[in-house]
Amino acid sequence: MAERVVSAKPNDEEGNLELSLRPKRLAEYIGQDKVKQNLRILIEAAKARGEAIDHTLLYGPPGLGKTTLGNIMANEMGVSIKTTSGPAIERPGDLAAILTNLRAGDVLFVDEVHRLAHAVEEVLYPAMEDFNLDIIIGKGPSARSLRLPLPHFTLIGATTRFAMLSAPLRDRFGAIYRLEFYDPPAMSEIVRRSAGILQVPIEEEGVTEIARRARGTPRVANRLLKRVRDYAQVRAEGKITAAVAKKALEMLEVDSLGLDETDRKVLRAIIVKFGGGPVGLDTIAASISEESDTIMDVYEPYLLQLGFLDRTPRGRVATRNAYKHLGLDYPDRAEQERLL
Ligand code: ADE
Repeated sequence: MAERVVSAKPNDEEGNLELSLRPKRLAEYIGQDKVKQNLRILIEAAKARGEAIDHTLLYGPPGLGKTTLGNIMANEMGVSIKTTSGPAIERPGDLAAILTNLRAGDVLFVDEVHRLAHAVEEVLYPAMEDFNLDIIIGKGPSARSLRLPLPHFTLIGATTRFAMLSAPLRDRFGAIYRLEFYDPPAMSEIVRRSAGILQVPIEEEGVTEIARRARGTPRVANRLLKRVRDYAQVRAEGKITAAVAKKALEMLEVDSLGLDETDRKVLRAIIVKFGGGPVGLDTIAASISEESDTIMDVYEPYLLQLGFLDRTPRGRVATRNAYKHLGLDYPDRAEQERLL
């Protein structure tokens, strides 16, 4: 399936672009002020003591900068970072190999940390808590367990699903921070900064137009900026004005609030097929041929934030504002009762 232009998942093409656009220092990092303040203290204190930073968990919707912050933390500490992900560490042996290759103070960044295999998590607990690697050698009655000391490293875990983390793993993080969607001034600043790095001429109204439609997500803002830059280059004189940004984003079917066709499909399904809800996530997903996990991780957080969707114990409900945004009539009370 074609990658959505407002997807918060990184794509291959973005590898290089994102690297150059990503801030390397905390001082360059825009927004997330509360998290930044806390991280600054965490880093300074660890540095002053000459110790590794406490294990840190970063969670929140995709594209908000969890990986960037992990890299910044390592950078600020002047240590190396090894980046991997929960599903990539298949066996306890894989984790053992990674852990024994770290040096004191190093950062191990584990993305999608909620997807670690159970057996791998079991090895991670003593590694995080006491910096010990407990491995079992052999099988059956002759099996022996061996304890190896590990360097004092920092685990930085990232996840979009805080609730899916097991309690023992959650409890072993000394610091837990939630990243929020960025507010409009922060989004504008990010677009301005990225346009500067990419050396694209952009008017202030062009900045606001892109920022407003980037669903509070820097990764989306950078992606939209790139597409608008292409349009400006081919259809205008290379400069991003408000009109150029509007036209380019219209062609990408990104609407005034940053919703794309799939967001609208989700809302339309709830409203048209299921009478506005409540309807279960799996039912919505099946009706528009999407995966439930994708809807939950990528689409829902922003729709909830906009107040277009409510989560109830009986399922998802489209709100009055969602009807309004799609230009649909909100059924009045009597009508709703009749439908029930
Ligand atoms: N690029 C992506 N995220 C950013 C952020 N939070 N600050 C500055 N530049 C960014």
